[in-house]
Amino acid sequence: MPKASGVASFYDRLAADYHLIYADWDDGIARQGRALDAVIRAELGLDSARVLDCSCGIGTQAIGLGLRGHRVTGTDISTGAVTRAVREAALRGVALPAATADMRQLPFAAAQFDVVVSADNSLPHLLTAHDVHAALTEMRRVLRTDGLLILSTRPYDEILKARPASTPPQVAASPHGRSITFQLWDWHEDGERYDLEHFQLVPDGAGEWDVCVRRSTYWALSQGQLSSYVIEAEFARPRWLAPESTGFFQPVLTARAA
Ligand SMILES: C[S@@+](CC[C@H](N)C(=O)[O-])C[C@H]1O[C@@H](n2cnc3c(N)ncnc32)[C@H](O)[C@@H]1O
Repeated sequence: MPKASGVASFYDRLAADYHLIYADWDDGIARQGRALDAVIRAELGLDSARVLDCSCGIGTQAIGLGLRGHRVTGTDISTGAVTRAVREAALRGVALPAATADMRQLPFAAAQFDVVVSADNSLPHLLTAHDVHAALTEMRRVLRTDGLLILSTRPYDEILKARPASTPPQVAASPHGRSITFQLWDWHEDGERYDLEHFQLVPDGAGEWDVCVRRSTYWALSQGQLSSYVIEAEFARPRWLAPESTGFFQPVLTARAA
């Protein structure tokens, strides 16, 4: 398995400030938890599902689903993010068993979960068909038969038409004033992958800015491509749900463990 240490260190370095990509992270936790909970109830009819969030980061969806009554376990390749997720969950009264793990090699026995979630553009950090297949096969393995897969990615069908060079600035409150986060994107010659520079500017309290730049790479998988990989990994009925129908801020792919 190729190393993913670059991604892990990107998110380790971002963990303390990750919430600054939201104007109000608690509001994001609540909104995303509500939207994904509605998807789970509509698909499985469960109000306390066994959920694995296999790219939980600092816990946006894991905490949101825990607050809605689901029994969530969190894993992520970044130890810094997992450590913060556990702390933030406890602060909000949510039990979140969690561990550092690569989604291509999940540390669970087969058929342990009703739902596997990987949200907010986590899977596209995997840059080859082989790695995407490995991750989806692991997600399928730990799901019970007919269990529910939930993935969310950026709206790459739209993005691939324009191949933008940057993202709009996101402004958030921080202890010494407003912080700004934005990304610059450099598309590879294949037109599908891009290197990103993630800029975060935070007021330092002495009239200057602390500027932090972190770098990573994404694969902008189209919705059709990702659906095909999901079927190859022995899922059935892949379905893309638009933000207007779920209230989630990104397109959501659902599929059932065949
Ligand atoms: C954009 S963040 C989203 C985090 C979280 N879902 C949220 O919304 O707060 C992407 C996450 O994917 C994780 N990730 C990337 N590659 C991974 C892998 N191979 N295995 C597990 N986690 C991975 C990163 O560490 C990061 O936490």
